[in-house]
Amino acid sequence: MGFWASLCPAVFLLLLLSTTLMSETNNTVNQIMKSAPLIDGHNDLALQLRRYFNNNLTGLDLNTLKKTHTNINKLKEGNVGAQLWSAYVLCSSQYKDAVRLTMEQIDVIKRMCRKYDEFNLVTTSEGIRNTTDKIACLITIEGGQSIDSSLAALRMFYDLGVRSMSLTHTCHTPWARSTEERSDIVPPKSSLTDFGQEVVWEMNRLGMIVDLSHTASDTAKAVLQISKAPVIFSHSSAFAICKHRRNVPDNLLKMIKKKKGLVMVNFYCGFVACQKVCNISNVADHFDYIKKIAGYKSVGIGGDYDGAVWFPQGLEDVSKYPALIKELLRRKWTAGELKAVLRDNFLRVFSKVEEVKAKLKNVAASEKEIPLNEITNKSCRLSLRDVFPTANSGHSLWKTVPPAFTIVCTVNTYIVSLILTG
Ligand SMILES: *[C@@H]1O[C@H](CO)[C@@H](O)[C@H](O)[C@H]1NC(C)=O
Ligand SMILES: *[C@@H]1O[C@H](CO)[C@@H](O)[C@H](O)[C@H]1NC(C)=O
Ligand SMILES: *[C@@H]1O[C@H](CO)[C@@H](O)[C@H](O)[C@H]1NC(C)=O
Ligand SMILES: *[C@@H]1O[C@H](CO)[C@@H](O)[C@H](O)[C@H]1NC(C)=O
Ligand SMILES: *[C@@H]1O[C@H](CO)[C@@H](O)[C@H](O)[C@H]1NC(C)=O
Repeated sequence: MGFWASLCPAVFLLLLLSTTLMSETNNTVNQIMKSAPLIDGHNDLALQLRRYFNNNLTGLDLNTLKKTHTNINKLKEGNVGAQLWSAYVLCSSQYKDAVRLTMEQIDVIKRMCRKYDEFNLVTTSEGIRNTTDKIACLITIEGGQSIDSSLAALRMFYDLGVRSMSLTHTCHTPWARSTEERSDIVPPKSSLTDFGQEVVWEMNRLGMIVDLSHTASDTAKAVLQISKAPVIFSHSSAFAICKHRRNVPDNLLKMIKKKKGLVMVNFYCGFVACQKVCNISNVADHFDYIKKIAGYKSVGIGGDYDGAVWFPQGLEDVSKYPALIKELLRRKWTAGELKAVLRDNFLRVFSKVEEVKAKLKNVAASEKEIPLNEITNKSCRLSLRDVFPTANSGHSLWKTVPPAFTIVCTVNTYIVSLILTG
């Protein structure tokens, strides 16, 4: 009895000490995240707004929404200072209504960010820096299918405020290869075609960040070789830790370092641990690894919340980012390194992309078009060009009812033209 009673104060002291230490770490995490609020590279809330609510925001309270990983209260708890919101439309929209659907996703992001005072829609790195008491909203596109192989569409998306685009999602575009193969989509002739290069250069000229998540590694390599500005992987992890093709292999990590780009680590257990179940420690391994190969200046965070299903124990939704920072502190990451990961690295890349835009301001917009024979099956385009520019071509239609146009479709390898009248 007497022995146990005498131990009591010691146990009590120990408990007190460990709680104090714990809250001290929490305070450090809090200080770091308050001085460098997180800029997260990828969130698919807009896709869920489409799925669950048909983009109807009227009856919703985004402060407390429960169906999703993301709501405003959770973003605040997670110390999120800026979010790259993904205007994503599925690969099955390729060659169909991808452009319209993408515009609808951009629209719902804008309406969401304007409706709630907690958000602030931005289009520049300065806009993010200026947003101190709110969550900055930056619009991104996931998957080159959204531009329907048109540089004009790309430019108009820029004008709508889009500041980053991943070249592919889980399907090839006619000009860039994806990590995934689909039986219904024939790969382009090369990993990045001439038109694909033109897309990259036009993005450089516009000041749109090139995102390599989802692109095949040869495509990523080609882009890293030709891009005039640094590029990002907005939501990918390290291949060496989990050998999934969505992750970034060492050779690309080294190129990213050289190019002063960024890999924003994805939390989805399928990419973190190549299985359905994982934890914070598994996620932290990716941070340690990318730091080791590419340096802390190439590391960022792109949680992929609301874009995937299996999330790590302890990182279940957007309120949980502090737990990761705590684990990285435990692994001897310094406050300076963590601030870079949370915020400064992305701001550096975005500012550089803007600098490149400024340098290219006298370069004219590209007027290149994709060759029709490179647009694979199922694609029909209305051609508003006069097919028989000389009116005396002998075709009776042209003599009687000009103007006439053609609708050009590719069927297998044949190009079929149908004549329409205006
Ligand atoms: C949008 O949602 C609100 C609330 O649930 C509902 O009253 C309204 O009819 C919906 N609008 C449309 C166009 O479906
Ligand atoms: C950022 O803040 C500065 C200083 O208040 C202001 O001059 C500038 O216009 C702001 N820029 C943006 C993009 O909000
Ligand atoms: C995380 O999971 C790994 C197995 O992948 C296990 O070895 C480790 O103990 C777990 N860590 C924690 C903190 O649960
Ligand atoms: C510290 O933060 C963790 C989450 O990372 C939380 O579970 C814990 O309750 C906090 N501890 C204190 C003492 O606030
Ligand atoms: C069109 O699809 C067929 C199979 O459906 C395929 O054999 C053919 O190569 C495709 N053509 C082009 C130009 O991609």
